[in-house]
Amino acid sequence: MKVIWNDKIVDRNEVKIDMEDRGYQFADGIYDVVRAYNGKFFTLDEHVDRFFRGACQTDLELPFSKEELKERLTTLIKINQIDTGNVYFQITRGIASPRNHTYPDPEVVAPVFTASATVVPRDQEKMNRGITASIIPDTRWLHCDIKSISLLGNIMAKHEAHKNGADEAVLHRDGAVTECSSSNMWMVKDGTIYTHPDGNLILPGVTKIVLLRAAEKAGIPVKEETFTVEQLKNADEAFSSSTTIEAMPIIEIDGCPVGSGKKGPIVEKLQQYYLNEVEEQCGSLRQNV
Ligand SMILES: Cc1ncc(COP(=O)(O)O)c(C=O)c1O
Repeated sequence: MKVIWNDKIVDRNEVKIDMEDRGYQFADGIYDVVRAYNGKFFTLDEHVDRFFRGACQTDLELPFSKEELKERLTTLIKINQIDTGNVYFQITRGIASPRNHTYPDPEVVAPVFTASATVVPRDQEKMNRGITASIIPDTRWLHCDIKSISLLGNIMAKHEAHKNGADEAVLHRDGAVTECSSSNMWMVKDGTIYTHPDGNLILPGVTKIVLLRAAEKAGIPVKEETFTVEQLKNADEAFSSSTTIEAMPIIEIDGCPVGSGKKGPIVEKLQQYYLNEVEEQCGSLRQNV
């Protein structure tokens, strides 16, 4: 497998990560995940924009322009012959010794960039069947809008959900649903879609942008406002969204069915609109569906 390591494309086993890399010691870095269909990126601009925003929020000086980053990622999927798959890219603040919390001088310490690409087919069967979820307190920090490589809070929540026999953790702060451990959260009540507004408590999902557009095109009303765990449990439909799972029905929460306990008509419609947008950008997916 070929990967990017700083400005080079190398074999994965050639990459050497220093034990004093600030990503390794402090989780001092940011990342993003973008999906390719038919060998073409979907919503690459939005992912790159979020990455640059995160760099700005964390005072991390990026060693490339948006165009240069897009060129590198495009080369990566070509060289690995990725048809449908995910590209993970991250940057850390670099290798600074001795260990010190203070940011190092960017004139002296260069950031470390890595990226890899993996084939991941669409799981249409799962998108039809849906997943289960468990309600878990959101104990993460107050900068959830930054796509930080520090994901301990997220993985602890997901692990709790798995211990409860569920696929995903639906997070809440004092009873108000924020998002999931690795996706945004949505519910449907009486024909209206609800999802948490952007801000510091959730990651502004790129899939969320696409689904908001889809809902508008489909004429389905959306309220970007907070809803409670109680309201969620009485919802007609629930679903989560992310680059890798698209719009994923949540059919059961803490062992109780959501609505009919099956994928609902609104998420079904959004999935169709999402697919249309993917096909507009990347070409027909019929052979994959
Ligand atoms: C915590 C969290 N929220 C939301 C999302 C959805 O973001 P996107 O739609 O850009 O993949 C993710 C994706 O990884 C995530 O980790």
